[in-house]
Amino acid sequence: MKVILNFAISADGKIGCHTGGASKFTSQQDLQRLWDIRLRADAILVGRGTLEADQMSLTIPAELNPPRQPLRLIASRKGQFDSSHPVFHKAGGEIHLLSTESTAPPRKGCAVHHMSLLDFLTYCEQELKIETLLCEGGGELVRSLAELNKISEINLTLAGHTLIGGAQAPGILGNLSEHLPASQHFSLTHCEPLENGECFLTYTSL
Ligand SMILES: NC(=O)c1ccc[n+]([C@@H]2O[C@H](COP(=O)([O-])OP(=O)(O)OC[C@H]3O[C@@H](n4cnc5c(N)ncnc54)[C@H](OP(=O)(O)O)[C@@H]3O)[C@@H](O)[C@H]2O)c1
Repeated sequence: MKVILNFAISADGKIGCHTGGASKFTSQQDLQRLWDIRLRADAILVGRGTLEADQMSLTIPAELNPPRQPLRLIASRKGQFDSSHPVFHKAGGEIHLLSTESTAPPRKGCAVHHMSLLDFLTYCEQELKIETLLCEGGGELVRSLAELNKISEINLTLAGHTLIGGAQAPGILGNLSEHLPASQHFSLTHCEPLENGECFLTYTSL
């Protein structure tokens, strides 16, 4: 299973500011690219923090005529999901809730899993037959994927027109923390500068 990431990053490598909230510092073209990347995915995975900050429904707009809606996978340690969140009220792909540390209660219309992130990735590949899993963040969840050495492709919209700053503002591996157990290396496979000062980049694992 290919695990691909998609992030918008500022010139100083930040994906948002330290107060959280939605990270909308990029353009309409970046949004269009998000839809294109979602169209390649069998499933979209997000951490509960991003789901809430960005009020995501994890769907592809009907006007883009998606052949199918990707499965919607939401990761939590504590397993406490807000029932009023739009993801639970908008039609879309099947919802799978992962709770790694506590048992989440059953939820109508969702599959609930209590297992480690690594076991869940195996389940996604072997039982759900997911070939391309798109992780849209946030940094904390992606840090765990990196520690498991599971990242196959990184899509970035480099928004070099913006500086965010802040020691507490996250990058794609979340807040400043320990080094990874070992550096990981990727090769540049796509580079597309836009007239608006942004650049679409794709890096593929070596
Ligand atoms: N610029 C961009 O492209 C971009 C993309 C994505 C997100 N963001 C920004 O990033 C911020 C949100 O990031 P965040 O730090 O809250 O990260 P996050 O990874 O989305 O959410 C953190 C939460 O996800 C769950 N989680 C994380 N790692 C896990 C793991 N290994 N196993 C199980 N559950 C795990 C935990 O949920 P529980 O608390 O429920 O246990 C954790 O508290 C927002 O401001 C958002 O706008 C920006």
